[in-house]
Amino acid sequence: MPPGFASLEDTAGQGGLPIALVPAASVEATLDGLSPRAARWARAHGFAGKLGQTLCLPGPEGDPARVLVGWGDAAARRRGRFHLAAALGKLPAGVYALNPGLDPADAAAEALGWLLESYRYDRYKKRAPAGARLLPPQGVDAAAVEHQAKAVWLTRDLINTPACDMGPAALEAALCALGARFGADTRVVSGSRLEDGFPMIHAVGQAAIQAPRLLELVWGTADAPKVTLVGKGVCFDTGGLDLKPAAAMGLMKKDMGGAANVMGLAQMIMAAALPVRLRVLVPAVENAVSAASFRPGDVLRARNGLTVEVNNTDAEGRLVLADALALASEEAPALILSMATLTGAARVALGPELPAMFTDDEALADEITAAGGSARDPVWRLPLWPGYETLIEPDIADLDNAPPGGMAGAITAALFLKRFVDETPFVHFDIYGWTPKAKPGRPLGGEAQAIRALMAMLEARFGA
Ligand code: BES
Ligand code: MN
Ligand code: ZN
Repeated sequence: MPPGFASLEDTAGQGGLPIALVPAASVEATLDGLSPRAARWARAHGFAGKLGQTLCLPGPEGDPARVLVGWGDAAARRRGRFHLAAALGKLPAGVYALNPGLDPADAAAEALGWLLESYRYDRYKKRAPAGARLLPPQGVDAAAVEHQAKAVWLTRDLINTPACDMGPAALEAALCALGARFGADTRVVSGSRLEDGFPMIHAVGQAAIQAPRLLELVWGTADAPKVTLVGKGVCFDTGGLDLKPAAAMGLMKKDMGGAANVMGLAQMIMAAALPVRLRVLVPAVENAVSAASFRPGDVLRARNGLTVEVNNTDAEGRLVLADALALASEEAPALILSMATLTGAARVALGPELPAMFTDDEALADEITAAGGSARDPVWRLPLWPGYETLIEPDIADLDNAPPGGMAGAITAALFLKRFVDETPFVHFDIYGWTPKAKPGRPLGGEAQAIRALMAMLEARFGA
């Protein structure tokens, strides 16, 4: 069981060691409110309220009595997301309570950050759990915060698991397990039905030992508004015959990060019993090299009839997503949302912290951007620039999966996906899915991006 808030049972009768978040500007006032000996201790340790600065104050018997955590100033706080999280690893084991009086939104965010920081990926190595535990802060919806954290943990676990243990079959098992927990229906398309119905998923995955497949989860009442999530499930991306160099291939276990993120989002939706009819589609493949690999120059016919010239087998994500998006759009849901570790260009443009968002729906873009701000889960919109449509149109087929020149690579990938969605409102996220350098609340490794923002948007749109 992953660590969460300290539960009511195991903390019965404990008040929790109080933690005060102290803005730099109120250090003097805070210290003046302490006993003279505690104030001397804090001054002797140079407590200045610097963001994340953590100081444990002793009580009369020398036991820890309270904790001061620096909260810096507004400008410093804007440079990060979760600040209390910086204290977690510095505190002795025990149960802590955040001082009341914080703005409830800040208290909720800091409590979430604490849980996100307490994540451990321990499948292959035992790692000590965080010894410091937090009581749910007053005025905070603890269940909602915990649902968010658990969704992020699921996403991280799926991404962190290497391809040897997270191939298409394991990803299938993970989606089925998720569905089973919430009474969802799950089904899998593979074999000749995949080849006939989803030719591009088949083409990309056909070289791998584990067969390609399309995973599907359906949950909720049939007449509720339909929300369909599509996630790129490339369990490992060698690049195919257009093989990636070693440095670019190293992290490609995370190429199912889109699938991992939509699964985290699906878990939040189902845990909150959001009144929608949820559908999750994951094309699960490995982009491998063998005599059966699809080739540069091959022309594929997509599910929706469009022909696609494969000008780079490493632009495989848009191929598998295209067939899944075509299926998604056949039932004209209220919203189609795709997530994918789709292009290196998105990473170059926005770096690992900001997922690129593409949509033609202005209201939707504004809602998600606003939700990202309050959820501390930022997104950044890039344009579906119509002027670049010609870039994805080659000579001998309808579409080119890898336009020459490499201009606007994230945009042309998103424009490619859009060709497979009919009238339905559509938003696509080109994510990185990985934290390359730990920050408070964001340990090194697989990362959820945009799903908390999306959940907030979905709750505002479809919530009861
Ligand atoms: N999975 C990669 C994109 C990727 C690379 C995401 C690194 C995050 C970090 C994708 O399948 C890919 O290889 N895209 C190519 C497309 C190109 C050949 C048109 C890319 O971005 O280089
Ligand atoms: Mn690729
Ligand atoms: Zn890929």
